[in-house]
Amino acid sequence: MIPMKERKDRKEIMNGRTIRINRVPATITAILLTIVLVYFLNFHQEERPSIYGMLRSDNKVNLRKMLIAAIQAAQRGGLEIVDVANSRQLKERSKGKTAEGVNDPFTDADGRSHCVMKQGLKRIFPRVHIFSEEDKEHCQDAHSFDLDPTVLHETAIVPDVAVTAQDVTVWVDPLDATKEFTEELYEYVTTMVCVAVAGQPVIGVIHNPFSGHTAWAWVGHSMSEYLAELHKLPRADKGSDPIITISRSHTAAAQDVTRAVFGQNVNILTAAGAGYKVLQVVANNATAYLHTSIIKKWDICAGDAILRALGGAMTTLNDESINYGPNESPVNKDGLLASLTHHGDYMERVSKYRAQHNGKLR
Ligand SMILES: *[C@@H]1O[C@H](CO)[C@@H](O)[C@H](O)[C@H]1NC(C)=O
Repeated sequence: MIPMKERKDRKEIMNGRTIRINRVPATITAILLTIVLVYFLNFHQEERPSIYGMLRSDNKVNLRKMLIAAIQAAQRGGLEIVDVANSRQLKERSKGKTAEGVNDPFTDADGRSHCVMKQGLKRIFPRVHIFSEEDKEHCQDAHSFDLDPTVLHETAIVPDVAVTAQDVTVWVDPLDATKEFTEELYEYVTTMVCVAVAGQPVIGVIHNPFSGHTAWAWVGHSMSEYLAELHKLPRADKGSDPIITISRSHTAAAQDVTRAVFGQNVNILTAAGAGYKVLQVVANNATAYLHTSIIKKWDICAGDAILRALGGAMTTLNDESINYGPNESPVNKDGLLASLTHHGDYMERVSKYRAQHNGKLR
């Protein structure tokens, strides 16, 4: 027997349910209909998952499409940069100082390129982590572009490869070598996009907006015709002495260290922009790229992918590969050594020098 009071309570609960039974399904139906409608009206999104996919929660992205979008983003960002350069209204301001202690400028070109690149990629791949050097920048307009496979050459081998969206990280550098951009040293200026899967660089794009050349590579699959041409160039004729490219904003001390590590006969090629320096290695203008201070991952990820695709290597000065995963710091504190060949030999010289100098290379 249920006591009287309890019975009364039950009845009230029952009554409550009776009312809900009328409302709940209607509300649920309305919410579901809205979700479905929003999804299907949002037809521009290439990577919109199917309802079936959503239920199984496997959010896949297609790396072939990511390659196309990465190339487009780099080229479209480049158009903004050229536009600002032509307008001669850079609106330069300072972001503070770089690790080398020099002024770190920001211009309208950095901002506009960032908005076009980041927003364009985000709209096509809404569930992918995208890091940009200028993420603090507020974008006024909503930018977008549709995938255009004609950015690839006809013979490019680009299979459909599906990966889980959560495993993908995109690194965007909207304008590498801003200081040189303000000095009109345009050959150093690049836009870069890198796609990393499970922390490993897989697709790299380095684009020079002023020459219009785009070097891209998809590790294990294909590369741009421009990159293949660069890679075929004959080795610079400096005998067997290494040619090391280092930052032109580095102090004389960095050049001294480079000589101490690689010998007095070393050739030093000072240059700006991490993207440009990697291309010097690819084009055999330099045999290695050395960086001894901190460097951000959007500066190096695309070059890392390109060197990997060509059989080269980029590591920290501890000879470790760099993790470009979404939960990692965007700062690489351990320096950089990149080359197409002889990476082990160069690393040995660096390690030897550091062993004699309390681990330091500065
Ligand atoms: C390599 O060096 C040559 C000679 O200085 C130069 O003309 C060429 O543009 C360089 N290659 C690249 C990719 O910058």
